[in-house]
Amino acid sequence: RPPEFSRNVDVSGLVDAQSGLIDRAIFTDRTLYEQELARVFATSWLFLGHVAQLEKPGDFFTTYMGEDPVIVTKDKDGRIRAYLNSCRHRGARVLRADYGKTRNFTCTYHGWSWDLGGELISVPNENGYANADFDRDDWGLIEVAQLDVVYDLIFATWNPEAPDLDEQLGNMKYYMEAFLGRDPAGTTIVGGITKWVLKGNWKLAAEQFGTDWYHVNMSHASALMVMSPTGKGPKESIANTPGRQYSDERGNGTGFPTHPKSRFDAQPVHEYYDYDELRERLGAARVEGPLTTGHATVFPNFSYLPVNGSIRVWHPKGVDEMEIWSWTVLDKSMPENVREAQRLYNLRTFGPSGIFEQDDGENWSEVQSISHGWRTNTIPLNYQMGLGSERHDGVYPGETSELYSDAAGRKFYSRWAELMNTPAWHEREQRPPGDAAATSAPAPVGAPVQTGASV
Ligand code: FES
Ligand code: FE
Repeated sequence: RPPEFSRNVDVSGLVDAQSGLIDRAIFTDRTLYEQELARVFATSWLFLGHVAQLEKPGDFFTTYMGEDPVIVTKDKDGRIRAYLNSCRHRGARVLRADYGKTRNFTCTYHGWSWDLGGELISVPNENGYANADFDRDDWGLIEVAQLDVVYDLIFATWNPEAPDLDEQLGNMKYYMEAFLGRDPAGTTIVGGITKWVLKGNWKLAAEQFGTDWYHVNMSHASALMVMSPTGKGPKESIANTPGRQYSDERGNGTGFPTHPKSRFDAQPVHEYYDYDELRERLGAARVEGPLTTGHATVFPNFSYLPVNGSIRVWHPKGVDEMEIWSWTVLDKSMPENVREAQRLYNLRTFGPSGIFEQDDGENWSEVQSISHGWRTNTIPLNYQMGLGSERHDGVYPGETSELYSDAAGRKFYSRWAELMNTPAWHEREQRPPGDAAATSAPAPVGAPVQTGASV
């Protein structure tokens, strides 16, 4: 498609990170939403799933990158591959199952079939194309441009020019390791994936998990009371402890209390860990900080909660709705009884009917449900908390502020605005008809394209 097809709205006036003001239109405007799919989701690294979902060649699961359905599979060589789950013939969804095992991918509409490497291997009545310029090699499944695995988590991007995943994560890896690097043997998942639909723009959730400890006292007051061993609620709980909030230029953010008491006593893994050993391996600052009770977002839409072992992705489903997919991730070495206790703990707190999750979801849906009014849409939102407090504190890597701060929110939206205002890689090239964006894009010199990862 010619580049001018894409939306090109300048969002500079909507996100003012210097003064901490955000225009509500970024949560409600349909044109901006389409631009977001083309410039944020088409260019960023996106979370696909956990390696435990793919044990053997032919195993697959399906998910989304933005609103694009994708198949994630292990090819015959054991490499993880990800393809657009849309038939090259007339566009049907090739695989309809959430997960399974297969030898090849056959479209149920007219029966075109691809092997695990994405090559078109069978076309019913193929001699009907005898007089056309038709070559099977041109009609393979559309593959992501780059795919990588970190802490057993699979990420991919359509963007051949994206800096590698390591660079996207940067200092964020130090914080992620406090949760996902606790066990040298790695991580695994228990209990499958819980999926639910929620009214609310996806950014409300992603932003909150990156930046917002502020809501805990108020929104979760009753839940904290239930969780508190003394039953006294927030004042006796984690909510008022000091802490830090990390944020970076790539839009990643995490917040965590910095006090040993911040560990929930009710947390099943609390008894399981040898904290002295962890301190030795991960450092005391990490064990008393991001390992305990925190929240985090890897830009744009992957978030996690170390205390629950909860990882989740906020799939955009139109400007007003998101689909939440949530996993329980645990250390591989954990015994069965700890795993089961942690699975239940995660479900009871941050499952779809979890006592904390319901508080959060209610907030996002409420904000969204009144955001389309003309008057509400003219009022800027306030992200000023902690303005100017960001610094290198000499303990935690990168720039951190106080725990109660909007610093990571400001960085999240700065990154969002930067991507929204920059023509994406696919807008800067002409694609021949019938060609695939991801597979036809030339990689810039010095940026090798990786199309699979062996694990
Ligand atoms: Fe898939 Fe026709 S739409 S084979
Ligand atoms: Fe919350």
